[in-house]
Amino acid sequence: MASSQLPLLLSLFLLVFQLQPTKAKLLNSKFLTSTILSQLSTTTHLNDTRPTVYFEVTKPIKLPRTKPCSQLILSHDFGNTYGKPPVLANYTPPSHCTSQKLSKIILEWKATCKGRQFDRIFGVWLGGVELLRGCTAEPTASGIVWSVNKDITRYQSLLVRNQTQTFAVHLGNVVDNTYTGVYHVNITINFYPAEEKLNSTENNSDNPASRFGANADLILPISQNLPLNDGLWFEIKNSMDTQVKEFRISQNAYRAVLEVYLSFHQKDEFWYSNLPNEYVSTNHLGNTPGNGPFREVVVTLDDEIVGTIWPFTVIYTGGINFLFWSPITGIGSFDLPSYDIEITPFLGNILDGKNHKFGFSITSGMNVWFVDANLHLWLDSKSRKTQGKLLKHNVSALDVHSQSDFTGLDGTLLTNVSRSISSTGWVKSSYGEMTTEWIQDFRYSNSMSMSKDSNKQIINQMIHFNDSVYTRMPSYSVFSMNSYKRFPLGMSTDVLDKGDESYSLVTNITLGFNEEKSKIAGSDFLFNSLKNLQNGHVIIDIEGNYVLDALWNTEQAYEYRGSDLCYFRNISSLKDNILYDIVSNTCMQ
Ligand SMILES: *[C@@H]1O[C@H](CO)[C@@H](O)[C@H](O)[C@H]1NC(C)=O
Ligand SMILES: *[C@@H]1O[C@H](CO)[C@@H](O)[C@H](O)[C@H]1NC(C)=O
Ligand SMILES: *[C@@H]1O[C@H](CO)[C@@H](O)[C@H](O)[C@H]1NC(C)=O
Ligand SMILES: *[C@@H]1O[C@H](CO)[C@@H](O)[C@H](O)[C@H]1NC(C)=O
Ligand SMILES: *[C@@H]1O[C@H](CO)[C@@H](O)[C@H](O)[C@H]1NC(C)=O
Ligand SMILES: *[C@@H]1O[C@H](CO)[C@@H](O)[C@H](O)[C@H]1NC(C)=O
Ligand SMILES: *[C@@H]1O[C@H](CO)[C@@H](O)[C@H](O)[C@H]1NC(C)=O
Ligand SMILES: *[C@@H]1O[C@H](CO)[C@@H](O)[C@H](O)[C@H]1NC(C)=O
Ligand SMILES: *[C@@H]1O[C@H](CO)[C@@H](O)[C@H](O)[C@H]1NC(C)=O
Ligand SMILES: *[C@@H]1O[C@H](CO)[C@@H](O)[C@H](O)[C@H]1NC(C)=O
Repeated sequence: MASSQLPLLLSLFLLVFQLQPTKAKLLNSKFLTSTILSQLSTTTHLNDTRPTVYFEVTKPIKLPRTKPCSQLILSHDFGNTYGKPPVLANYTPPSHCTSQKLSKIILEWKATCKGRQFDRIFGVWLGGVELLRGCTAEPTASGIVWSVNKDITRYQSLLVRNQTQTFAVHLGNVVDNTYTGVYHVNITINFYPAEEKLNSTENNSDNPASRFGANADLILPISQNLPLNDGLWFEIKNSMDTQVKEFRISQNAYRAVLEVYLSFHQKDEFWYSNLPNEYVSTNHLGNTPGNGPFREVVVTLDDEIVGTIWPFTVIYTGGINFLFWSPITGIGSFDLPSYDIEITPFLGNILDGKNHKFGFSITSGMNVWFVDANLHLWLDSKSRKTQGKLLKHNVSALDVHSQSDFTGLDGTLLTNVSRSISSTGWVKSSYGEMTTEWIQDFRYSNSMSMSKDSNKQIINQMIHFNDSVYTRMPSYSVFSMNSYKRFPLGMSTDVLDKGDESYSLVTNITLGFNEEKSKIAGSDFLFNSLKNLQNGHVIIDIEGNYVLDALWNTEQAYEYRGSDLCYFRNISSLKDNILYDIVSNTCMQ
């Protein structure tokens, strides 16, 4: 559920709370959510004596063979922190280390928790720039441990700045007699000096294409200013709500990228399963969330759409059924993805030294989305002013096709949506004139079907999300980047009536994150492809008010092939036990 203490129930048994009167006697959702869930959470880890290690399957980070300088930035116990200001710490870089050439900077999040608690969303910021968005693991009576290692090298210019900056962490937690879990968190940053290359021939720092592909020189926060109560993200509450931030950039920028962080909660935590408003039914748990199953994050610059994001469907650790995510957590849940929007074609509009504004809104959004961004800027060290001009800009309207066929609460709904956005503009700097084209192409399809008085529900969704940047540089040099993402999602749930007030609740999930990426920067060529797929099954046998048995199983296949490394992992868990775990690092597969 992540974020608030109010709609606790939504997160837990989403797909069952529309049960119909005939089943209501059998399957009163009130006891399903509280009694049954509390039985599940207190009985499923009965035999544990040691803390369980929860983990997200992801590739290791390729590190240099140098000794890192490690700095503990923050150590804090997050108890009753909901609606309170973020926890702050002063940050100054370890200058003995950051004065050297660095090759990697890693943020290490380590946390433990014991007792009962919900999944909570958290954010980590430095000088208002978001570094990490995550969801906590749900604890057990015997305790849990999880950690996240995130490569934050792209924020290098911010991290090595020789001044004191404010480090902020917000994790909105509620502790009372029932929900006792306090999150103990340590955040460390590890700075890895570059390996000495004795006979290095690669020195591209004068090649404009290489500079274009390197890390930014300056990063501006596009988030809420401290002091405040809550995270630094903007809260977007409905489809009419646009959150705006004014900013001003250095007049010698020649590239700009807006990195957007987002997470969805409460009525939109499971937006892909929301019904159109005409089919939303009211029942003993209140309203089924509406506005249909399509969502898009729209980013504007001075009120013009510059890009959109069709988000990956992160499922938090308590989502659908918390048993799915124990001990292997959902893709992206411990380290939510961020998304880049190329602003370079629009630089000509904002190089005037004046204030401009970014706006964020959610197509069909419901309460609540947390969105903020970081503006990465590349600056011309040899001039005080660059110039630019937007040449072309085309935003197609959302192309929506939907079809529904309902009788009462049973029926089907099909929704297809597509959109494309493109822009071209030039920038003149001391490196010469560069023309950048930025294209986004999206395609979405969602099918929902409900039968057996809505007790059986099946949802299948696919998002295709392509974007590309192509920059022509002086002297025929080129910078280009292509990303082709596919996010499949399948969910089905069924109530199998076994008579005598007993029944089985069956839920299956398929969740995938696939991306093919290529980058050409002068003479450098990078390519990688990721296929990451999870399949989960949960069966709960219930008699009257009692859980007789619960069985859960997750399988995950992770395949990464890149010019940096290859990593394959095929893993499966049954209850809290790992059935098999096959890891390989060889690219020949
Ligand atoms: C706990 O251990 C007992 C004895 O080994 C076993 O019968 C029981 O199934 C276990 N319970 C759980 C929830 O794993
Ligand atoms: C945090 O660091 C302190 C001091 O090193 C240590 O005692 C504690 O166990 C750590 N906590 C976590 C969650 O790693
Ligand atoms: C950092 O700033 C301080 C004070 O301004 C200065 O004394 C110090 O030399 C600087 N360190 C580096 C590595 O630039
Ligand atoms: C450095 O040069 C030596 C001799 O020319 C060569 O054997 C070695 O492989 C080179 N090392 C690297 C890292 O390029
Ligand atoms: C690369 O070249 C630039 C400019 O010629 C020089 O300033 C820099 O020190 C060189 N870097 C390395 C690692 O050789
Ligand atoms: C804008 O995009 C639409 C849809 O992709 C296309 O039909 C139209 O021709 C484009 N207009 C321009 C001026 O490129
Ligand atoms: C949606 O697209 C699928 C295939 O891409 C097609 O079979 C289906 O008819 C479309 N549905 C609607 C309502 O447009
Ligand atoms: C995205 O790119 C891939 C590979 O070029 C292509 O097959 C697919 O149709 C594209 N999808 C969209 C929505 O443009
Ligand atoms: C869940 O998956 C199992 C195994 O693939 C299948 O037998 C069952 O019918 C599925 N149930 C639902 C509700 O999709
Ligand atoms: C993962 O391993 C299981 C069991 O060995 C096997 O059945 C499955 O095909 C493997 N999956 C992949 C993607 O390699």
